[in-house]
Amino acid sequence: KLCYIFPKRLSINVFVTDGALLICYRGSRVGGRIRPCSAPPRFARPCVLDDGLVPAIARPWILTANPRRPLTRSRQGQRRPPSAFPVVDGALQPAHLHVYQANLHNSGVCQQRYLKYQEQAMMGGGENATTRHTQRNKKLLVRDRLRMLLDDEDYLELSPFAGLDLDYGSIPSAGCLTGIGKINGLWCVFIANNATVKGGTAYPITVKKQLRAQDVAMQNRLPCVYLVDSGGAFLPLQSEIFPDKNHGGRTFYNEAIMSAMKIPQVAVVCGSCTAGGAYVPTMAEEAVIVHKIGTIFLGGPPLVKAATGEEVSPEDLGGARVHAEVSGCVDHFAPLERDAYEHARNIISTLNFELPADENEAVEEPLHSVEDLKGLAPRSYNHSLDVRMIVSRLTDGSRFQEFKARYGTTLVTGFGKIEGHLVGIVASNGELTYEASLKGSHFVQLCDQRDVPIIFLQNTAPKPAMTPSQHKAEAHSNRLKAQSSMMAAVACASTPRITVVIGGCHGADSYAMCGRSFDPNFLFLWPNARVSLVAPGCSDALVEEEHDVTHLKKKLEEESSAFFSSARLWDDGVILPQDTRKVLNKCLKIIKQQEYQLSKERLRAPLLRM
Ligand code: COA
Repeated sequence: KLCYIFPKRLSINVFVTDGALLICYRGSRVGGRIRPCSAPPRFARPCVLDDGLVPAIARPWILTANPRRPLTRSRQGQRRPPSAFPVVDGALQPAHLHVYQANLHNSGVCQQRYLKYQEQAMMGGGENATTRHTQRNKKLLVRDRLRMLLDDEDYLELSPFAGLDLDYGSIPSAGCLTGIGKINGLWCVFIANNATVKGGTAYPITVKKQLRAQDVAMQNRLPCVYLVDSGGAFLPLQSEIFPDKNHGGRTFYNEAIMSAMKIPQVAVVCGSCTAGGAYVPTMAEEAVIVHKIGTIFLGGPPLVKAATGEEVSPEDLGGARVHAEVSGCVDHFAPLERDAYEHARNIISTLNFELPADENEAVEEPLHSVEDLKGLAPRSYNHSLDVRMIVSRLTDGSRFQEFKARYGTTLVTGFGKIEGHLVGIVASNGELTYEASLKGSHFVQLCDQRDVPIIFLQNTAPKPAMTPSQHKAEAHSNRLKAQSSMMAAVACASTPRITVVIGGCHGADSYAMCGRSFDPNFLFLWPNARVSLVAPGCSDALVEEEHDVTHLKKKLEEESSAFFSSARLWDDGVILPQDTRKVLNKCLKIIKQQEYQLSKERLRAPLLRM
C-alpha cells in the first residue's frame, strides 16, 4: 500500500492511493473524508508501507474510523489513545426548565450590561482626546499598536472593565491595556498605556493593573512587553500612587526581580515617558524608541523652564536621537512607529524558547451546546442546578472521571480534558460541608501530586453556617477544621490553578475554592457572579436598626456585582459563560509555555543597563 504523508504545517495529513483519496484535516473531529483521486496532490511525501503497516505519524489519522472515538496525538507526535472517561449526564430535564428560563433571562440582562461596559472601555478617552492623539500628536491608537505588535487579534485581554465607575471617576480600561498575546508564536504579556485617557497618566487603578500584569508574567513565566506612552503619575492622587509597597515604585522593583528570574522584558517608547515613567524603558532589558514621538525625561521642558529659565524642545531634552546616540537609555532607534513594533517582534525572536510544532490535535467538542451555560449560570444561589451540567458543557466530549462521587456530594471533583488539556475540576455543588472539604483537600493534593492544573468552579453559599444549638457545635468545629485543611492544600498546591466564579463568591468558603487571595494563576467571573462577604439580605440578623438593614442591603446589592469587582481589579475580567471553554483553553496553553523556555535557571542579579 502506498501512502503519502503531508508536511505537518499543511492542514491535510494523509493521502492513500488505493484508488481513493483520504483527506484528514488536522483538528477535525471525524478522521477524514474519502474522495476519488488519480494522482497525489502537490507537497505529498511518498512512503511505502510494509505488510500493511502504517507509519506512526499517519496511524492516528488512518485509524480514526469511529467518529465517536477519535484518536489524538501527543505533542511528540506519538499516538495517544482517546480519553476513555465516562460521559457525564448533562441533559436538561423538564423539572429544570423553570429555573433554566429564569437564569437565561438574568443572563440576558447581564450580557447587556457587559456589552455596555465593553463599549465604554473601547471608547478610551473619548473623541476629542482621540483626535488630539492621532491628528496633533501623530500617534497610533493603542489597539492599532497591538495589531502591529502581535501575531493576530486572538489575545487574552485582562480586566478590560478595570477603572469604570470608581469614586474618583471613570477611567476606561484603567488607562492601559494589559493581556497576553502571541509574538512570533510566543505568548507574551503586554502592558500598553492608552494616552487618550488623561495623557496616559497613572491613576491608582492603573498602577494596580500594571502590577497585576507583571504578576501574571512572573507566575506564568511569560516575556513582557511595555508600550510606554504616559505622563507619569496622576498628580491629584499622588498619595495613593507613590508611597506604599504596592504603589508606583513596585513596577520598577518588579522589573528588576523579573529580569533576575530570567523573564525577558522589552519596552517600546511610543510617547512620553516622564518622571517615574522614565524608569520603565530604562529598566527593561531592551528598549526601542520612536523618532519624533518617543521622549524620556525625569522633568519635562516646562520643569526645565521653571527651574533654569531655559527653553528646550522635548526632542532635544530627551528625544530618540538623544537616547539612542548620546545617553544609551535605549538600544534601538525606530524612524516610524511601525518599525518599532517590528524591532520588538525581532527582539522576542531572540529569546531562548523551543516551541513545539503546532499540532492542532483532534479534540471532541462537548456533547451539549456551550450556549446552554447562559441558562445554567445561577441568577441566585437558589437557582443553582447540578454543577455537572456545567462541567458537561466545558469538557471534551462531556467526559468526566469523577472522584469520590458518592462522598461529600456538595463538592464535585474529578478529571476531564479541556481542548485536550488534562485538568482536575473542583466544582461547588452546594455548601462546603465537612465531608466536601475533606474530599476537596484529598483531590487538590492528588492533582498537585500528578502536576495536573486545577480548575475551580466557584459558587459558594451566600451566608455563613450558623451554630443553632450546642450539640451542633461539634459538627461545626469539625467543618471548620476540614475547611482549614482544604485552604492549606489549595494555598500550597504548586500546580497551576484557574478559578471561574460561576455564581457566588462569599465568605470563607470562597478562599477554599481558590479566591483571589489564594493566588490562582487566573480568576474570572461570569457576569451573573456575586462577590461579597455575605450576600444581600443574609446579614439582617447582625444589624439592629431597620434603616441600617435597608442601607446595608442596598450597599451589598451594589457592591457585590461582577462589574463592581472587575472595576476594582479583584479578578482578571468578566467572561461570558459561553466563552469559558475558549478562555480556559487559552489560559492552559499560556501556562504550559514555560516548559519550552530553554534557559530559566534563576539568576542572582538582574541585567543592568550600562
Ligand atoms: N497629572 C494629572 N493630569 C495630567 C498629567 C499629570 N501628570 N499629565 C497630563 N495631564 C492631563 C492634562 O491636564 C490634560 O487634561 P484635560 O484633558 O482634562 O485637559 C490631559 O492629561 C492630556 O494632557 P495634554 O497635555 O493636553 O496632552 P498632550 O498629549 O499634549 O501631552 C503629556 C501629554 C503627558 C506629554 C503632557 O500632558 C505632560 O507633559 N504632562 C506632565 C507630565 C509630568 O510632568 N508628569 C510628572 C508626574 S510625576
